[in-house]
Amino acid sequence: MNWSILNVSVPVHDLEKSKKFYQLIFPHQDKQETLYQNIFEKEESVYFGNKGLGLRLFKPMPDLKLNDKIQSRRSYVSILVDNILKIKTNLERKKIDFIFETSGDGVSLHSLYVQEPSLNLIHFVQDNNGFNKETNSWSMGLDWGVHHMNLESLDVRSSIDFFTNISEMIEGEWVAPKNKGDFSIDPSELAILPLSNNNRGLHVIKPDDGFGYRNNFAHNPSIGGHPAFTIKDLSSLKNRLDKNNILYSDAKVYAMPGFHQIYLYDINANMLEVNQAV
Ligand SMILES: [Fe+2]
Repeated sequence: MNWSILNVSVPVHDLEKSKKFYQLIFPHQDKQETLYQNIFEKEESVYFGNKGLGLRLFKPMPDLKLNDKIQSRRSYVSILVDNILKIKTNLERKKIDFIFETSGDGVSLHSLYVQEPSLNLIHFVQDNNGFNKETNSWSMGLDWGVHHMNLESLDVRSSIDFFTNISEMIEGEWVAPKNKGDFSIDPSELAILPLSNNNRGLHVIKPDDGFGYRNNFAHNPSIGGHPAFTIKDLSSLKNRLDKNNILYSDAKVYAMPGFHQIYLYDINANMLEVNQAV
């Protein structure tokens, strides 16, 4: 199935305070085209990117107020696909519960919310105007993009089976750099559904309690999932983080050839990765 990353949604406690934090990383445009933002109209959100592509901050509700909705307390990914009805049929066949809805004024957008076997919320979206490979959060015409979404999975193989069987994505192989850090790329511990030949896409990792310790990081990127953003100038971001006393782990090039990575928490302890092609 054709797919791309529409955006990542990050749960925050205070939208305005978090907006200020994320402005350290990305410029924020107050005036944006709203296309895909319509899908999330029921939730108060702050968008970084354009047309709803990129990053969305949202404030979770008390669970008991949800009324047959589902929400995530972790960062989650919305995925644009070219055949959402196929996903719906595949889920029905496997007797997996999901929520299917249609939204958007003028343009109709189908949304399907489901939990994969490790209970990460996955949001599939289909635009009835057709699938356009160019419309995605990697190439938004801005100086940054969403490189990958990392999902923590307690059973990597069954999570990958879900994506390959239900949403008919194709598994790839992890491309490691020469001086790889101390982590496993055994497909039962780290797997990838690629959108490129340089590790862009969806990453699925088994939590590894010693990951941070062994690699000398203050952060453990194998726990809890994280979105990863590619920016043009990582060194000026590091300066801004230093100035604001924000802790980050400078991993350098250690997991993906050609990408200098850093890890940090946002002000709600959501793990973030920011990288730069080098
Ligand atoms: Fe990552």
